[in-house]
Amino acid sequence: MAAARKSIHGEWSSRWVFILAATGSAVGLGSIWRFPYVTGENGGGAFVLIYLLCVAAVGLPIMMAETLIGRRGRQSPINSLKTLAKEEGLSSNWQFLGWLGVLAGFIVLSFYSVVAGWAVAYIFYVGGGAFAEASVDMSGAQFDALTGSAWRMLGWHSLFMLTTVVIVARGVKGGLEQAVKWLMPALFVLLVVVVGYAMSIGDVGAAIDYLFTPDFSQVTRSSVLAALGQAFFSLSLGMGAIMIYGSYLPASASIPKTIGLVAICDTLVALLAGLAIFPLVFGFGLEPGSGAGLVFVSLTIAFGHMPGGQVFGALFFALLSVAALTSAISLLEPIAAWLVEAMHWSRRRASSVAGLGAWLLGVGSLLSFNYWSHIKPFGRNFFEWSEFLSTTVMLPVGGLLVATFAGWRMSRASTLDELGLPPGVFYSAWRFLVRIVAPLGVLVILLNSLDVIG
Ligand code: PFF
Repeated sequence: MAAARKSIHGEWSSRWVFILAATGSAVGLGSIWRFPYVTGENGGGAFVLIYLLCVAAVGLPIMMAETLIGRRGRQSPINSLKTLAKEEGLSSNWQFLGWLGVLAGFIVLSFYSVVAGWAVAYIFYVGGGAFAEASVDMSGAQFDALTGSAWRMLGWHSLFMLTTVVIVARGVKGGLEQAVKWLMPALFVLLVVVVGYAMSIGDVGAAIDYLFTPDFSQVTRSSVLAALGQAFFSLSLGMGAIMIYGSYLPASASIPKTIGLVAICDTLVALLAGLAIFPLVFGFGLEPGSGAGLVFVSLTIAFGHMPGGQVFGALFFALLSVAALTSAISLLEPIAAWLVEAMHWSRRRASSVAGLGAWLLGVGSLLSFNYWSHIKPFGRNFFEWSEFLSTTVMLPVGGLLVATFAGWRMSRASTLDELGLPPGVFYSAWRFLVRIVAPLGVLVILLNSLDVIG
């Protein structure tokens, strides 16, 4: 049966490596940069609670579905879906779901690398003392100087993409596995150090209050949608990343236990990132709901005024960069694997070509902060279009179709076998969530974000 199929790309040494890799994919700019500011924009504690619910009821079942599809197919998302559809007697059009995911991941990688490049640049800016005693205006000007200079951004974007390509080019065991084995412990240490610093120097009471005391008067329909979207992006769903990582998962590993741990780790990191950021934000009297600039503009002011801020600030941006790198490799891997399978290219060639393509698309994104900032077809610049199409449209469509495929189209016997669960309450709960709750949840976000339902 499917468990006997082998991936031509290799396999993780153990389920623990998968846990490191999938957590590495999940923990990224979405958890450390985006989660805190979206929480800030949506009023704090109540949003956190809704986010946790979304992770449990929608994110987790879909993540399990992606992993089981990957492991059963043992190929790139495109070919895994093609193979499984054939095996289940379904239309070969299901492979387009694989295409959708791979394409979405490709687009996300292009602008993800641009933002990750900012994080890398900030290690040097903050570490070099650029924010010492900086005022709000100075900090904003520093950020504008970076985004205003296409050349500077190009340099950081290129460096980040090149690093991603080098890791993926070395293959599953020699590249990805080695990278996550070193980078994930480093990430953990950096996180503990930065949280420790923030809690010893900032206003912890206010931060805990803000993150964990739900005020339901702040909850609006749009915050529920934001929580669901954030859960999807943060768990790396709908883009083939978890699917391809699942295709390297040893057959003996239990998918529910493994994925449960990944989701818990991702959520813990997001909360810890909140505990690193908000004590400083409140301790310094900054505005928690200041949006996307929270980390780059507001937090840097706090670092600039606090004892040790130069060192710990640089460590914070190192943390953000490492987190972004372990996510970026999971975005490049699905397309590189597909190129190896379909074109019979070497890994080096496949990852270089795919990386170059994403890099080029990323240039469009970085230009939309400067030379192309006035080019806004239908109200969005290149960067905003890339983000909108991939994360707001393709990601939920992909998630919805993954849930449909695993919940409604694959046979009960196949999913039962691949999940390794006994028929019983856990399996039934998963099936109920993946068939009914997850698709409904995703459909609501999708229609809402496309303004179909006002
Ligand atoms: N989960 C990553 C983050 O939170 O930053 C982003 C991401 C990585 C999304 C890989 C999708 C993906 F396939």
